[in-house]
Amino acid sequence: MSKIKACIFDLDGVIVDTAKYHYLAWRRLADKLGFEFTEEQNERLKGVSRMKSLEILLEIGNKNFTEEEKLKLAEKKNNWYIEYISKMKEDEILPGAKEFLEIVRASGIKTALGSVSKNSMTILNNLKLIKYFDAVIDGNKVSKAKPDPEVFLLGAREVNIEPKNCVVFEDARAGIEAAINAGMYSIGIGDAKILNKANFVIKSLKQMTIEKLNLL
Ligand code: BG6
Ligand code: MG
Repeated sequence: MSKIKACIFDLDGVIVDTAKYHYLAWRRLADKLGFEFTEEQNERLKGVSRMKSLEILLEIGNKNFTEEEKLKLAEKKNNWYIEYISKMKEDEILPGAKEFLEIVRASGIKTALGSVSKNSMTILNNLKLIKYFDAVIDGNKVSKAKPDPEVFLLGAREVNIEPKNCVVFEDARAGIEAAINAGMYSIGIGDAKILNKANFVIKSLKQMTIEKLNLL
């Protein structure tokens, strides 16, 4: 019998291919502010809240702004991001995501979304993904960004499963750290070098099976 009674999924870069749009929008802002922003530097922003991401970006560009100006910059980035995601089609749901969610639910394991994005509901609604989740925790429900475990602990609480029986699926280093801080298992989606603290790493949910959950 598997220890795993709930699967908690990050959204951007795990269920949908939106991590690239966050990067494009931040890079557009960096460009406007007159500095370069590489994909490697972008790893630091994954799983991090909008305002914290902006702080990191401005630190990279060595720029200073007032709190009021920062709010305007974050809004500008978000407007560009919304422009990108509004054109998203169902083919931008990542390989194997829907199929694995279906298998998990059919096995009686709970599912929760654990994302710090305030745009989560827009994406889930546009791509008709809400029905796959027993609970949705997004950036409107939590105040602390990953690696703080708040988002995952709340997910576990909403599906009524103890953290030690939960596994988190994450594409961000900060997200894997948040899972560890929550006392949960973690499976990295993406680059094994970046996600080396996870229990194991796969390329996409297409490679995931219930048998692999039993190995945890
Ligand atoms: C996370 C992304 O899912 O959401 C981050 O990995 C992003 O890159 C964060 O900054 C907040 O997203 P939003 O949509 O609220 O700006
Ligand atoms: Mg992510």
